[in-house]
Amino acid sequence: MPLPTSVKLFEMAPRDGLQNEPGGIVPTATKIALIERLAKAGITHIEAASFVSPKWVPQMVDAVEVMAGIKRQPGVVYSALTPNLKGLENALTVGVEEVAVFGAASEAFSQKNINCSIAESLARFEPVLERARDAGIRVRGYVSCVLGCPYEGEIAPAKVAEVAKALYEMGCYEVSLGDTIGVGTPLAAKRMIEATRQHVPIEFLAAHFHDTYGMALANLYAVMEEGVSVIDAATAGLGGCPYAKGASGNVATEDVLYLLEGLGIETGIDLQAVIDTGFWITHELGRKPSSKVALAKASAIENKN
Ligand code: HMG
Ligand code: MG
Repeated sequence: MPLPTSVKLFEMAPRDGLQNEPGGIVPTATKIALIERLAKAGITHIEAASFVSPKWVPQMVDAVEVMAGIKRQPGVVYSALTPNLKGLENALTVGVEEVAVFGAASEAFSQKNINCSIAESLARFEPVLERARDAGIRVRGYVSCVLGCPYEGEIAPAKVAEVAKALYEMGCYEVSLGDTIGVGTPLAAKRMIEATRQHVPIEFLAAHFHDTYGMALANLYAVMEEGVSVIDAATAGLGGCPYAKGASGNVATEDVLYLLEGLGIETGIDLQAVIDTGFWITHELGRKPSSKVALAKASAIENKN
């Protein structure tokens, strides 16, 4: 199959990127400034916050303030995680236009992450989707651990397909497939997509790959060959999952954009503006971006001067 001619990039830095950030709550104003900079760079889909229990994920405690504080740009979708009705009701108070529910292909991870079994999670999502439909907002679905689980090890592609199918049939407009701990390799990624696309049309599948083992770009190329054209990524490679110890952030947005530009695939996003944003936010957090492209471009500029 030919590679897609355009890709929708879903930016994760404000949510997946920051949710596990150690060293105190990142100020609300910094979170808002990050989201606004990303939108200015031309990113049209931004996961901006997470309406989860602050006891479970303290870093997302200010989801209401963040969502209410953003100066919204026309044409940009600001999404948020809502694991249950309580989360959705909170999100509705600040006028979200899109939310996401998140399940897993691993029983053990489901228990650790959202405190229930896979079947219980799907039952819990039903009323969330119903309420969202009534409110006229779209719901994205996630499946975690699609290429491996920190507790169970290997995960069968058929299990990923089963959970993705359930989310799609429930009404999720898109299902994002998470390599939560970044252990996948290209052939496994292809096999997982091949199993899943039999139940969910390929145009409604997204790749959400963490880069723990440095395989994310190779895996993205492999699944684009299968027809995937929605990619989740986090500026500066920020992040990790609080319930997957040692997992690093999503593949860096800068690295994905550089790959896509090289392949002649349209995104409409300004790479340099994203690089600048990555340096700005990591400076705020007291470190450097983990994007190789950002670091290489910065050192090329330094060498010129
Ligand atoms: P629970 O403890 O089973 O829920 O948590 P509960 O209904 O028994 O409620 C317990 C307490 O939490 C109550 O408060 C509720 O009010 C409160 P208390 O009476 O004790 O004071 N509560 C909430 N508060 C705020 N917002 C809510 C909410 N719901 C209940 N929405 C729950 C179940 C799902 C809430 C909990 O397990 C949780 O918040 N988990 C979040 C885990 C999380 O955010 N993980 C990271 C995101 S997923 C991810 O990163 C993976 C992804 O990136 C894809 C990939 O990479 O694979 C998406
Ligand atoms: Mg993730």
